[in-house]
Amino acid sequence: MAILVTGGAGYIGSHAARALRRSGYEVVLYDNLSAGFRRLAQGFELVEGDIADEARLRPVLARVDAVMHFAAHAYVGESVENPRKYFRNNVLGALTLLNSALDAGIRRFVFSSSCAVYGVPEQSPIAERTPREPVNPYGASKLFFENALQAYSRAYGLRSVSLRYFNAAGADESGEIGELHDPETHLVPLALAASTPNGPALRIYGSDYPTPDGTCVRDYIHVNDLADAHVRALQYLENGVGEKSGGSLAVNLGTGRGHSVLEVVQAAESATGRPVRRTIGPQRPGDPPILVADPAKAQSVLGWTAKRNLADIVSSAWAWMQKNSSSS
Ligand SMILES: NC(=O)c1ccc[n+]([C@@H]2O[C@H](COP(=O)([O-])OP(=O)(O)OC[C@H]3O[C@@H](n4cnc5c(N)ncnc54)[C@H](O)[C@@H]3O)[C@@H](O)[C@H]2O)c1
Repeated sequence: MAILVTGGAGYIGSHAARALRRSGYEVVLYDNLSAGFRRLAQGFELVEGDIADEARLRPVLARVDAVMHFAAHAYVGESVENPRKYFRNNVLGALTLLNSALDAGIRRFVFSSSCAVYGVPEQSPIAERTPREPVNPYGASKLFFENALQAYSRAYGLRSVSLRYFNAAGADESGEIGELHDPETHLVPLALAASTPNGPALRIYGSDYPTPDGTCVRDYIHVNDLADAHVRALQYLENGVGEKSGGSLAVNLGTGRGHSVLEVVQAAESATGRPVRRTIGPQRPGDPPILVADPAKAQSVLGWTAKRNLADIVSSAWAWMQKNSSSS
């Protein structure tokens, strides 16, 4: 069985591609390299193209059985400054991909959604039935596509799984691939970099939140746990493929355990053996104090739970960062 992985030269897509291959799937990566890296795609077939390019997609879709869709713009702040860019790629581009997949006879689709669809929820942990009220264009673009998948499932029998990731972090234990974003905005790589002699100090946004130590609490999920969940999602779609009705499933992917910014800083200090230089700034508007997943549905429906903890995340990210800086 062959899977098209859009955004496969990016951070999470490249890890999922390896997990798929380990489970015996054929994998074709599709990426326009706008934010991806050839080295993350090494060892895989990479078709360079844009998800909005129907003609480029057609022959590739003709030779796969399912799509895993990671390709998107994914900076919340940038989406507020430049919503047009986000709706063009994450909605218009994504719909071109979806329609092309449908036209090619594909009925299985796995989508990278986000906890950003929940906005600023009142309750924690967050279950899937929590109202989806995104507070920025990035979250709105993810919600739009979830809704499109649901409508396509009812109307056309497309079966889909939307995976709402919480905070992806860490790196493949092989040290071959890991997190590469430019600019980097994620806490784990920024904290690790701030412990190196030449890295910039970490800026912490707010220490007066209503949390135990005053800093924001998030649910950090190891990228290889996420990758495994994608394989489970695909198996879920395969098992139900004979069903007459469609079906669109949405599940949270998190550990169910929150860690504050300062806890991540401490974990980074333990991994590197050096202090993380940091400054404390004001809160960022729209940053909820606590975002933690209720992962029960992923366990009951997909049989998936996270296996790795914060120490695993930080140590694998540190191993990758060291290897990456010595090889670049
Ligand atoms: N990193 C996180 O913590 C996180 C959390 C929730 C959701 N997500 C979602 O997961 C997905 C992957 O995130 P990531 O962190 O790996 O990002 P990433 O930027 O590393 O990967 C995205 C990849 O998509 C490619 N791409 C973007 N637009 C494209 C287009 N029009 N055509 C073809 N390729 C295109 C980029 O070149 C890049 O390789 C995204 O959809 C993101 O919104 C990420």
